[in-house]
Amino acid sequence: MYKPLVVITGKNGQLGWELAQLKSLNTFQFDFLFIDKEELDLSNPESIPAFFKQHKPQYFVNCGAYTLVDKAETEKELTRAINATSVGVIAAECAAIGCTLITISTDYVFDGNGTSPYLPNQVTDPLNHYGLTKQEGEQLALQNNPKTIIIRTSWVYSTHANNFVKTMLRLMKEREELKVVSDQVGSPTYAADFAEAIIQMIEQLESGSTHYGIYHYSNSGVISWYDFAVAIKNIAGLSCNVLPIPTTAFPTPAKRPAYSVLDKESIIKDYEIKLIDWKVSLKKCIHELK
Ligand SMILES: NC(=O)c1ccc[n+]([C@@H]2O[C@H](COP(=O)([O-])OP(=O)(O)OC[C@H]3O[C@@H](n4cnc5c(N)ncnc54)[C@H](OP(=O)(O)O)[C@@H]3O)[C@@H](O)[C@H]2O)c1
Repeated sequence: MYKPLVVITGKNGQLGWELAQLKSLNTFQFDFLFIDKEELDLSNPESIPAFFKQHKPQYFVNCGAYTLVDKAETEKELTRAINATSVGVIAAECAAIGCTLITISTDYVFDGNGTSPYLPNQVTDPLNHYGLTKQEGEQLALQNNPKTIIIRTSWVYSTHANNFVKTMLRLMKEREELKVVSDQVGSPTYAADFAEAIIQMIEQLESGSTHYGIYHYSNSGVISWYDFAVAIKNIAGLSCNVLPIPTTAFPTPAKRPAYSVLDKESIIKDYEIKLIDWKVSLKKCIHELK
């Protein structure tokens, strides 16, 4: 029986890994191919056409990215090759075979001066090189393939790979006191929830949906990194003293947006995605980690 092929990059990363874990994948009417840099090195855009010649997917979900936000300030060309140039080539290859591209982007495309949730079509103005290359990747993807869906997300965590939740849990066990910035606000995203949403979108596309363009996804709720850390501490039952600090007290090579809340109405409306409360998902993740 014919099954559309769904290629998913970044299989060793948080989101790609969570997609591979979905138990429901076994029952789907799709074939899945999970890959990472061993199978397709996104730092080498010239290698992409040969991959498409061999595989010819119907859906290409790009979760692979250069995500070291501070290191990106010095590894500029590598970051651009992975996050922008390769995304453009993937989009062009997709267009040539009628493949739908779903590529993941970030709240860091915004400057953070907003005071209400950012709409998908709002002007972007990234503060750091990572955000700039993700913005360039978005533009190339949209230009090169009419069947492109960009999904911007924020503050991603998972039981797998490195992230804020796992770092906090480790530090809170090691230290008596921890300082966390309280003047950057946004919405966390449990990668397992996001993975479910992406599969739901592919199912709807396969059933005839023609909604392309830019979408936003995260868990629901708006918090600061400090609020997030306090919730992690309380859910895990740890005793570390968590203190709020301003961003100015924690300088990093890459600037971060102060406000990066994404408006998610269009993904709810066009793809019937139900958002899950950030705390419900955080509890689930910490429970899984125990
Ligand atoms: N993490 C966040 O807080 C966050 C926030 C907003 C948006 N996003 C976006 O969400 C998407 C998924 O993020 P994530 O948190 O799952 O990222 P992640 O855990 O850092 O995973 C990134 C994946 O990309 C792969 N990769 C890196 N360099 C590559 C290369 N040259 N060729 C092929 N693959 C390469 C990594 O492979 P290795 O593990 O082998 O290096 C890893 O599997 C990304 O587009 C990211 O920009 C993330």
